[in-house]
Amino acid sequence: MTILDDAEIFRNEALRDIGAADSPERLEAIRSAVLGRSGKLKDLMVRIREVPPAGKREAGQRLNAIKAELEAAWRGRKEQTAIAPSGPLPDPTLPGLTQAIGSIHPLTQAMENFTGIFERLGFTIRHGPEIEDAFHNFDALNMPEDHPVRDQADTFVLDDNAILRSQTSTVQVRVMEEHVLRHGGGSSMPPIRIVSPGRTYRPDAVDATHHYGFSQIEGLAVDRNVSFSDLRGFLALFARETFGEDTATRFRPSFFPFTEPSAEMDISCAFCRGKGCRVCRQQGWVELGGCGMVDPNVFDAVGIDSEMFTGFAFGFGIERLAMFMLGVDDIRRFTENDLRFLRQF
Ligand code: DAH
Repeated sequence: MTILDDAEIFRNEALRDIGAADSPERLEAIRSAVLGRSGKLKDLMVRIREVPPAGKREAGQRLNAIKAELEAAWRGRKEQTAIAPSGPLPDPTLPGLTQAIGSIHPLTQAMENFTGIFERLGFTIRHGPEIEDAFHNFDALNMPEDHPVRDQADTFVLDDNAILRSQTSTVQVRVMEEHVLRHGGGSSMPPIRIVSPGRTYRPDAVDATHHYGFSQIEGLAVDRNVSFSDLRGFLALFARETFGEDTATRFRPSFFPFTEPSAEMDISCAFCRGKGCRVCRQQGWVELGGCGMVDPNVFDAVGIDSEMFTGFAFGFGIERLAMFMLGVDDIRRFTENDLRFLRQF
């Protein structure tokens, strides 16, 4: 066998081995056995010494060509094995890994539901601060200094003139003040139609239906000739949109310092359709919250002409509504952050 015959056999075997190598480790082993310092190619190079002078040149050229060819084949294979995964391919029929994504808190869902309905009726969403002063929480709402709800035991007091708001009615005052600043409170004042959802605070003992931190949605509409029937119409529409077309509404006379007349609004129980059940405590009705016609004293406090304008206002507790809608029996569930509860919504 001449060196050239051996070189061809070596070349073919080496190309076959390189092509069959299926991992970077295997390729590395082949490189050292074939092209390495004490590899087979080196042995063949050494044998050129034995070739008669006339054949040396041809043998040298052939071995150099084989070397270049093998190196190129090796590099190509290395790129392929680097990309191709080693080991068995993953089974594409197995179920994928799911990523746990959060969801919107049930209270927020309820809140967005309510504000969405009012937005479609032409109301704008407004927000106010949770830390308030006595003027916005009490004075401007016709609750003078000696009013019983101003008892410190009924409000969280932070310092001299800072409290945690006990109702979202504060936002009524802020919105009207801002409106008057911009337009004046007289004949050039455009109408107001806002709803304001948000957190409110009262030092109540916590039980299944009470919490010291809760949420309300406040509404206010001010224009010329706004009447109590407008109030009833809007709120009845809201109730039907929220709880179903056949929801009945009822208004009971009540008292709030900032509305005159004032009412409590009830809706027929969506679960028993007014017959009486556990959810409505056999009443057939569920209380939504307070409402009424803005008291002229409130308009006076913010500088709106109470001869020219009338308005209606309402304030509903969101937790109570959400509990009713979602069938939740304990207000504490909303703040416990128990994933078993939250995942249901
Ligand atoms: N602010 C009252 C409360 O927290 C609820 C309320 C009653 C709001 C009547 C109003 C209203 O706007 O007109 O109990």
